[in-house]
Amino acid sequence: MLAPVLTIDGPSGAGKGTVSRLVAKKLGWHYLDSGSIYRSVAIAIQKASINLGDISEIVKVTQAMVLEFECADALIVKLNGINITDQLGLESTGNIASQVAAIPEVRAILLQKQKDFRQLPGLVADGRDMGTVVFSDAENKVFLTASAEKRAERRYKQLIEKEIDANLATIKSEIEARDCRDMERENAPLAMASDALYIDSSDMTINSVVEEVLNLIR
Ligand code: DC
Repeated sequence: MLAPVLTIDGPSGAGKGTVSRLVAKKLGWHYLDSGSIYRSVAIAIQKASINLGDISEIVKVTQAMVLEFECADALIVKLNGINITDQLGLESTGNIASQVAAIPEVRAILLQKQKDFRQLPGLVADGRDMGTVVFSDAENKVFLTASAEKRAERRYKQLIEKEIDANLATIKSEIEARDCRDMERENAPLAMASDALYIDSSDMTINSVVEEVLNLIR
């Protein structure tokens, strides 16, 4: 029996990660943070000092990479046995991830790795193409978005709380550049599935978004 899937797609900073984790916890389902897989490729190519233009080397590294996800209180990700959790969330990692994610061969290699997360009793899958490509047969789909201003403000606050130097205008322009790259790539671009529920979280609390998503499942 195939496990049920809830997909939550949307641009970076819309709150997908927080909402997906909370919904997965409430339902007792598994959680796939597909962005962290693309981020792991970004870290792998940086570690191997591979140039972003060197597609054949990027493909080799992606094929060879061994990823382990450990879900304790927070997600721990190991790349080839080394804990890379701290580097996953960096802005630079996200920007490189968005560029490697545009390479069709990379997406093809990562497809099965993502499908393997579909385990009983169910899966909440967060990303850009969860409802359109990876789990296009999912029973429940959400497209979660927010204005670029709100997403930049949220990211700015997170960085300041972590005492990381940040500039709001720079963050906003990076978010817009990433949106553009993710939406305009030819292969599996960020797009809303025709059967997805659209939620704009700009003026919503996390809890109200979680409630709306849980209502969809109920
Ligand atoms: O969700 P995130 O910010 O961690 O994702 C990082 C990048 O990875 C994002 O800019 C685009 C890419 N990505 C993707 O192409 N497809 C996914 N399903 C998830 C992420």
